[in-house]
Amino acid sequence: MEKVLTDSYGRQIRDLRISVTDRCNFRCFYCLPNGEPPLARKETILTFEEISYISEIFVELGIEKIRLTGGEPLLRKDLEKLIEKLSKLKNQKSKFKNQKLQDLALTTNGHTFPQRAEGLKKAGLDRVTISLDSLKTDNFQRITGVDKLSEVLEAIEAAKKYDFQPIKINAVIVRGYNEDELVAFADFARQYDVSCRFIEFMPLDSGHEWKREQVVSGKEIYETINQVFPLKLKTTSRGNETAWKYHFIDGAKGEIGIIAPVTEMFCGQCSRIRLTADGQIRTCLFSTTEHNLRDVIRSGANRTEIIEFIREVVFKKEPHHYINEPKFVQPTRTMSFIGG
Ligand code: 5AD
Ligand code: SF4
Repeated sequence: MEKVLTDSYGRQIRDLRISVTDRCNFRCFYCLPNGEPPLARKETILTFEEISYISEIFVELGIEKIRLTGGEPLLRKDLEKLIEKLSKLKNQKSKFKNQKLQDLALTTNGHTFPQRAEGLKKAGLDRVTISLDSLKTDNFQRITGVDKLSEVLEAIEAAKKYDFQPIKINAVIVRGYNEDELVAFADFARQYDVSCRFIEFMPLDSGHEWKREQVVSGKEIYETINQVFPLKLKTTSRGNETAWKYHFIDGAKGEIGIIAPVTEMFCGQCSRIRLTADGQIRTCLFSTTEHNLRDVIRSGANRTEIIEFIREVVFKKEPHHYINEPKFVQPTRTMSFIGG
């Protein structure tokens, strides 16, 4: 009998992340500090037709969530058109009973989101995650390299206005940069009724400057917030989600999420797979090899051959990352290429 995409450790793959461009207009120090030129050339970037075709196949194989990332995905011209195509997949049945695409999401730095929000909603986008690493103008600029805090705050308003609920805010917490803003972020989550998700700093920066001492652990994040705004876990199991989610005990609105890939590895439940802007499948954020799906498709492979290629690649997904082991090698590509 046919199986949902499954790797050699028995993990089912349900979540596809597609980077639609490796370009970005921010220069977050933990990602692209020096503004490296994009790696991909125009002709190597997947077209919308190719992305839709690949996504359709993945949905048939059991993918339930698609997230568009980058780089900054809104820098890709007419992204709304791609979203329109992908949202039609929500009506497509997979080969497996009661399964279909349920969720189409976007991760953005928010910069041009306010002008695009309405169109994205109309095109069928369900949810957005907006990156926001500081609530202070000067610190925001120090972290992202741009003076755009007010635009990002407007993006959050726009996400509310156009009902992209639940709205997630991503903050990468790095010692010496923004660990002193944790309580302010928690307060922000309460005021704005959003989910503030704190992510441990991972060695994925293009400058290879990551240092273990800069990692603020999930435990420390929890304790810092819990002292001021007591928290309660929403569920005792995380399933295949990356974040532990918390309510505020006093009943305030908003939510806290803690994502601790470095200090509390969650690879055992990983359901994710990634497609880079130039059509490479990456089976892990920290993969050191990629699998060239673009060439398979462009060489004229038929649907059965493509499915076979994808199944074989997924089967080879690595058991876990090696950040905490001496043999760890930082991938050459940054998050701007891989997609968060
Ligand atoms: N460590 C942790 N998170 C990162 N992101 C980018 N680079 C890193 C890193 N080195 C996250 C940002 C962004 C998402 C796409 O990826 O939070 O929101
Ligand atoms: Fe751009 Fe996102 Fe990387 Fe920041 S983290 S430089 S916003 S791709």
